[in-house]
Amino acid sequence: MSTVLIRGGTVVSTTGRVAADVLVDGERIVALITPGTEPLGPITADTTIDATGKYVFPGGVDAHTHMEMPFGGTYASDTFETGTRAAAWGGTTTIIDFVVQYQGQRVMDQYAEWHEKAAGNCAIDYGFHQILSDVQDESLQAMDELVAEGVTSFKLFMAYKGVLFSDDGQILRAFQKGASNGAMMMMHAENGAIIDVLVKQALEAHNTSPYWHGITRPWQAEEEATHRAIMIADITGAPLYVVHVSAKQAVEQIAAARDRGMNVFGETCPQYLYLSLEEQLAAVSEEWGELEGAKWVCSTPLRSRHEGHQDHMWQSLRTNDIQMVSTDHCPFCMKEQKEMGRGDFSKIPNGIGSVEHRMDLMYQGVATGKISLERFVELTSTTPARMFGLYGRKGVIAPGADADIVVYDPSGHTSIGVDKTHHMNMDYSAWEGFEIDGHVDVVLSRGTVIVDERGYVGKAGHGQYLKRSLSQYLI
Ligand code: URP
Ligand code: ZN
Ligand code: ZN
Repeated sequence: MSTVLIRGGTVVSTTGRVAADVLVDGERIVALITPGTEPLGPITADTTIDATGKYVFPGGVDAHTHMEMPFGGTYASDTFETGTRAAAWGGTTTIIDFVVQYQGQRVMDQYAEWHEKAAGNCAIDYGFHQILSDVQDESLQAMDELVAEGVTSFKLFMAYKGVLFSDDGQILRAFQKGASNGAMMMMHAENGAIIDVLVKQALEAHNTSPYWHGITRPWQAEEEATHRAIMIADITGAPLYVVHVSAKQAVEQIAAARDRGMNVFGETCPQYLYLSLEEQLAAVSEEWGELEGAKWVCSTPLRSRHEGHQDHMWQSLRTNDIQMVSTDHCPFCMKEQKEMGRGDFSKIPNGIGSVEHRMDLMYQGVATGKISLERFVELTSTTPARMFGLYGRKGVIAPGADADIVVYDPSGHTSIGVDKTHHMNMDYSAWEGFEIDGHVDVVLSRGTVIVDERGYVGKAGHGQYLKRSLSQYLI
């Protein structure tokens, strides 16, 4: 087993930062050493990494990705191999991906299929959530089997009728199961029936451009569905995690439920902090014309900056009304994928690719004074690990934890763009032109250096499946 010593850096946790050297033996962290206090003289290791002037963070945990997801008449364009490699470049060392059950499919078959797709291909460690789109007796029984397999969270959809949608009765039954086996119930909270009518009406009125995707998915549809999901959680006693929250009114529903003492949690994504509906409206290019806006078609949609959703979302990250930032990485290329929606926004595959940039984008919140360094670590690594039963191994730099470590240079710089830093399998970047104060210098996954000054030096198949425990936030 080889040893690694990360020397001279500032180790950051949720509760503070300390000058400490980090000693890794094999796959695990074995010691944090205050510099100059080694009783037997300076410790040596097989590999020494100089982190002077740099931050040493626990590796990022992105709890919401869709590698190779069959969706919108096509497949998400990153495979487990390309997507996890891109994640590694950006300092993310764990993903939790969604196994999909469509109607008529057996949950356990789908789970086996996702293992086949991921095994031997991942650059970093990975776990699974399960999407349920066909809630019936066999699916409910599979929820117990999956919890035993380390899949301890289940997502349901209140939108996408005929594809992913579950009605309130089905949601109630799944939540009852979650209440009994301790699993976290995750919700795509948008009122699908309202959206479907608004989409039909917009298309009939010849409003076909990507901007109309957002107009036909108003915040009221998100707020209403969020409230309904909270009520179903309340009736059943199940814990609820609302994914990809974008509307400030939905945040308020989550905050109110938490204030009442409920186990309700909220996740947002970088796109809801940085991007807006107005920018999507203004996006017209020589290459794509008004289809340019398709680059940012995702659900929930981008919200109006004029209405203040983005500022409110940053505030809710600070105040813990929202507890986590994941990417909802669901990439599609413009060519042959997003362009399926030319002349009909409802045919644009929904999703944005960000798995490579989440850590950098969130570090910008630190650089601009919106969140503290400690809160950054909490939002991007520690809380995701605790929320989804990985803490101890992931989400912390401490003896015994997996040596998933990022050496981050706050004086470095990262220019995002397809011809610059871009390793996701997409022909565009949703983050083109973003300039980041900060740079991911070195990344370790379970003690192995997978990114350094040479670039990506890891290998497909290094990443292992993570059997997760129940959420640490539940009592
Ligand atoms: O637009 C999105 N979010 N695509 C991925 C599927 C989902 O709803 O998370
Ligand atoms: Zn969703
Ligand atoms: Zn998603």
